[in-house]
Amino acid sequence: MVYERVKTGETSLTRQKTKFVCANCGYESAQWLGRCPLCEQFNTMVEELVAPLESRPKKRSMRAVVDESQPIPSTELKGTVVPRVVSGSAEWDRVLGGGMVPGSTIIVAGEPGVGKSTLLTQVAAQMAQKGHKALYVSGEESPHQLAMRLERLSLIHSDLLVLGERNVLAISNCLQSVYPQIAVIDSIQSVFHPLLTSSPGSVGQVRESAAHLIRIAKESRMGLLFIGHVTKEGYLAGPKVLEHMVDAVLYLEGEATAPVRLLRATKNRFGTTGEVGLFQMTERGLEDLTHPDQWLLSASQEPKIGSAVALIVEGRRPLVAEVQALVASNTWSGCRRVATGVDIGRLLMLIAVLEKHLGCSLSNKDVYVNVVGGLRIRETAIDLPIALAILSSRSDRPLPAGTAFFGEVGLSGEVRPVSQGALRVREGRRLGFRHCIGPTDGTSTVDWTTVADVRQAAEMFHLIGANRTTRRRD
Ligand SMILES: Nc1ncnc2c1ncn2[C@@H]1O[C@H](COP(=O)(O)OP(=O)(O)OP(=O)(O)O)[C@@H](O)[C@H]1O
Ligand SMILES: [Mg+2]
Ligand SMILES: [Zn+2]
Repeated sequence: MVYERVKTGETSLTRQKTKFVCANCGYESAQWLGRCPLCEQFNTMVEELVAPLESRPKKRSMRAVVDESQPIPSTELKGTVVPRVVSGSAEWDRVLGGGMVPGSTIIVAGEPGVGKSTLLTQVAAQMAQKGHKALYVSGEESPHQLAMRLERLSLIHSDLLVLGERNVLAISNCLQSVYPQIAVIDSIQSVFHPLLTSSPGSVGQVRESAAHLIRIAKESRMGLLFIGHVTKEGYLAGPKVLEHMVDAVLYLEGEATAPVRLLRATKNRFGTTGEVGLFQMTERGLEDLTHPDQWLLSASQEPKIGSAVALIVEGRRPLVAEVQALVASNTWSGCRRVATGVDIGRLLMLIAVLEKHLGCSLSNKDVYVNVVGGLRIRETAIDLPIALAILSSRSDRPLPAGTAFFGEVGLSGEVRPVSQGALRVREGRRLGFRHCIGPTDGTSTVDWTTVADVRQAAEMFHLIGANRTTRRRD
């Protein structure tokens, strides 16, 4: 790749060099090595810039620097109330703990096509509309493509500037001349530092580029939003290393085929990580989802075979979701187990529990489980609804309308307590689920029917009657 060094306008660059440092043990080498000679780990060498001589403190001035640094009595510290910049989206502000703190750095990560660029284009435009100068830097799309999106979403504004650039030094020059209050970098994996030999997206490139931009942003109290790509396995490719460098880490989740998107904070220096934001993807962009139940429950609430309503809590937010299961005979090939919106490992465990403790044979059956609306649920309170949806499909008997479930299932089939039972049940009732079923939470005032194990719940709805004798025999 040919880098345009002239563009950067820096003359001392040629004197800089890079080194490779083992991320595991810190061993340094002048060139890349596949295996670290010290700790013998493979693929741990990460390229780093050697600080240029002029940026290192001179020996004589070292003393002055040390003397200047004085502690402040905590009683003299001011600014405990952090000011916030609210956007036009209540859901975005909620996840950040009431709006973005000026000068903070945030990474928004998500899978390809989930809507990261859409979300941050909207945030940048909303800031511009509130009179804050915003800069959107894209290393992935041309300014023409960005303009198309801005037009489609009606977000064109004179205070929203766009830049198509990937060279981090050119981006930082632009930041220092335009001096925006908020800058979006789409994406951090596409940006490169011209002095590093490793390719864009590698750990060294991502780390150096981000550190460079964060330094500039912190100096000028500029809000910085990075977009980061995540692989299917849910791990931030490369920028996992960025998580400790930024103030907040947000994940945007959802199935590309369904409109619901969930924004979740896994780290927030200025608020809790307990809040989640819900959006829906429309042709006008990501809109706040004010009535999630409309998307998360299927349109008709008639009793359906293979469907169970789950009372879940994402962060601090109660949600009612519908789990669907399909159990189909498969006598001609290996059985399929497909989980959409829930963890496949969890599904396999629940199938094993149903086979072992309820005598419900699924060995010659395909099992498909899906969460309506495309939401991904990590909470274990979804276990009991999944188990009942599977039993309902297998027995061809529907669960009654107006009934909702929650509870973690243990390896011996017991239904284990989960937090915030009362909150779940209150939300279920609000949405018309009069009959709620879950584990006991140890308190005497119980608003829901408690079950001790999956068998008890299944018997309550006659989902395993025919299988009971089979179990007694073994
Ligand atoms: N005209 C349109 N109408 C409705 N939805 C659209 C339209 N154009 C794009 N979308 C939605 O926007 C999504 C892409 O959004 P966006 O480009 O913000 O995602 P991204 O996460 O930035 O993707 P990438 O990883 O490719 O950069 C599409 O998957 C689609 O759901
Ligand atoms: Mg994008
Ligand atoms: Zn090493």
